Amino acid sequence: MGWLSWERFRCNTDCAQDPANCISERLFVETADSLILGGFQSAGYNYVIIDDCWLAKERDVHGKLQPDPHRFPRGMPAIARYLHERELKFGIYGDIGTKTCGGYPGMAGHLGRDAQTYADWGVDYLKVDGCYADPDSYNKTYPALGAALNATGRPIVYSCSWPAYLPDPVQTGFQIPYEALRRHCNLWRNWVDIQSDWASLKSIIVFWAKASLLSEGFTDVAGPGAFNDPDMLIIGNEGITDDQAALQMGAWAMFAAPLLMGNDVRNLTVAQQAILLNRDVIAINQDPVGHQGALVKCRGSCEEGQIWQRRLYNGDLAVAFFNLNDAATERICVDWNELALGEYTQRKGMEVFTGTVRHNLGGELCEELAGTSIKLWRLAAVDAVKHAAAVF
Ligand code: DGJ
Repeated sequence: MGWLSWERFRCNTDCAQDPANCISERLFVETADSLILGGFQSAGYNYVIIDDCWLAKERDVHGKLQPDPHRFPRGMPAIARYLHERELKFGIYGDIGTKTCGGYPGMAGHLGRDAQTYADWGVDYLKVDGCYADPDSYNKTYPALGAALNATGRPIVYSCSWPAYLPDPVQTGFQIPYEALRRHCNLWRNWVDIQSDWASLKSIIVFWAKASLLSEGFTDVAGPGAFNDPDMLIIGNEGITDDQAALQMGAWAMFAAPLLMGNDVRNLTVAQQAILLNRDVIAINQDPVGHQGALVKCRGSCEEGQIWQRRLYNGDLAVAFFNLNDAATERICVDWNELALGEYTQRKGMEVFTGTVRHNLGGELCEELAGTSIKLWRLAAVDAVKHAAAVF
């Protein structure tokens, strides 16, 4: 969980015109302060990650990567120190090819040296993009960089963009190498970049359902230390309603997805903060066994509605209803025997966005959902202790 600069601040390097929002030390320091003051750090959002466009256009005379000297005058160790003193983690961005997508120096030919530079700077998380490289080489280069990071001895979360640049598995049937991803990366971007609008968010949710139907490997690969990544949370940006923001938060919880905000934490509405800080949703997202949710069923071709379930560490079951239709209110039902409830058929539950509690649930669960909205239930076995014993 954390925050990433790309979605909101992109490659804004114009600090003369826009000093508060350009990619510079000030943005990361102010974001860190806001994460702490806004209660985000204590909710678990603790990685502050610099995306593309932080680099100088050239390496230094020793061939080392260096930040832009005007925008990061005190260098990267100063930012690492600022974050670490506040018990935050420091993330940064590189590219496996010859250049970053924004045209700054890439890591190709320098993997060992750059891994060491990041470790020396105190980096805790590295996002590695795939521009300006041949995707056929990824099965060598991404593992090689992973090995180089491990060789530094510093624990660094390794985020790969490897599958995002491979042929689309849903469109082409291409077999994504999930086992290799799990072995070499901690998380990986599966698909196209999210944009701050409903059409983009919906397309990712539909992709997730179709990828789940296509291959069990997609769901089964996830577990502690290895997660599919549907891209940043756009909650807090213009372009989606609060209902759609809740839908993204709940969907990402069901998907066991990284919660990396791509917003301006300095400027959020109360409603946006409440969605991002909802502890019951975060608890589902961060469930310690790390099972990715499984699709129960779709309405239409998964474009209209979806129902998902996710098994949780204590025998609870999270069940989510998505209405993806823009206008229409839909009544969506799931039959009890469509869910992985085990032998315990009676459950009590809480809908985590409204706090509605219901006892003696059974038979079927139906929801009236407004256009583009979610209901997310955490169902507890009525005899939870016996249930947990039966499951584990
Ligand atoms: C493509 C990635 O998918 C984005 O998340 C972002 O890192 C940009 N490149 C940066 O250029």
